[in-house]
Amino acid sequence: MQTLIAPSILSADFANLAHSVKLLEKENGADLLHIDIMDGHYVPNLTIGPNVIASLRKCSELFFETHLMISNPDYLLNEFIKAGSDRIVVHPETCPHLHRTLTKIKEADLEAGLAINPATSWETCQFEYLGSLIDTITIMSVNPGFPAQKFIEFSILKIKDFRQKLDSKGLSHIKIEVDGGINKKTAPLVVKAGAEILVAGNAIYGEADPFQALLDLRQSVN
Ligand code: DX5
Ligand code: ZN
Repeated sequence: MQTLIAPSILSADFANLAHSVKLLEKENGADLLHIDIMDGHYVPNLTIGPNVIASLRKCSELFFETHLMISNPDYLLNEFIKAGSDRIVVHPETCPHLHRTLTKIKEADLEAGLAINPATSWETCQFEYLGSLIDTITIMSVNPGFPAQKFIEFSILKIKDFRQKLDSKGLSHIKIEVDGGINKKTAPLVVKAGAEILVAGNAIYGEADPFQALLDLRQSVN
């Protein structure tokens, strides 16, 4: 199974977002685009809203993964759906009615994902009730909020543990993504542990040649 690379635009030049996306939208480039939404409340940083996603949608064919780091995403869910997201990822702690939130995403014909903070446990995901509504689990290997943070080592064990538990509970359809501190050194470790989708911000957009950096990252896991 080929590892998918999801560049995060958090480290891109926000004054030239369309250009930054186009740089990677070519053969062997991005498999999907990871869009980090932060509200200055759930996480201590602010980024963009649905209007920017809608603008990017007009100039990119990539699969858009919208990572919502916002308190109670239900209030803005319709806007992020309408903007052109293909998958919406929420943090379970932010959703007072997680079943309702995931159902709403799936009923709009989008994929749904859960993002798991370093201190969030397997039990919080309530897979026994929600497993059929979940397409991806994003294991956060940093605390959410900022790019270019240090990879938290125990994430490797967590990925292995989640993969093994998902498979043993009949939830093999759920793919594991890793978000935070992914680079040429950490990528092979998380892939070996069972990750299938790699989010990378600084390791791609922090480099002088983002496309070459993406190729190098891909090479590190092949
Ligand atoms: C962190 C975000 C990440 C971030 C990753 O809160 O969710 O998607 O962009 O950035 P790097 O790859 O630089 O750790
Ligand atoms: Zn993210």
